[in-house]
Amino acid sequence: MKMDNQLLEDLNTQLNREFYAAYLYFAMATYFTEINMEGFAKLTKNHAKEELEHARKIYDYVVLRDEKVNLLRIEAPDTNWNNPIDAINAALDHEKFVTENIHRIYKSSKEKGDFALEVFMQWFVAEQVEEEHLFQSMLDKMSYIKDCECEIVNIDRELKIENNYVE
Ligand code: FEO
Repeated sequence: MKMDNQLLEDLNTQLNREFYAAYLYFAMATYFTEINMEGFAKLTKNHAKEELEHARKIYDYVVLRDEKVNLLRIEAPDTNWNNPIDAINAALDHEKFVTENIHRIYKSSKEKGDFALEVFMQWFVAEQVEEEHLFQSMLDKMSYIKDCECEIVNIDRELKIENNYVE
């Protein structure tokens, strides 16, 4: 079944957003490395790899539907974070933005009767719940201890251990 033109455009735009997300998390990994937060750097670098996997899923799906992959220009992320909480806040904001767009594509695929795309998008709908939870829970943890920077160092140490084996 041919894809609706608008749905195909939306999917190609989402492909670009996933590549952008990988860029954003690599930029965060660079930031955390610069401020010697090795655990946060590992977490965000691993997350960048997940975003590339999301992009690959969409790429493969467009090819599977015999449609054209359209690779759009990837914007450079804004990296003016003042502290780790600021950066993780930006991650959460970005994930919320991605969720909105995933939901929009899911809704359109339903409305336009593209049931195959609807089923494909379900994986992304579920994935976004995890993505938002990851950064929201981290932010909650960091917000409680915002008056004690030494606690952020402890979280960084935990993240370093947790993310050591995810390579
Ligand atoms: Fe691919 Fe973090 O959403």
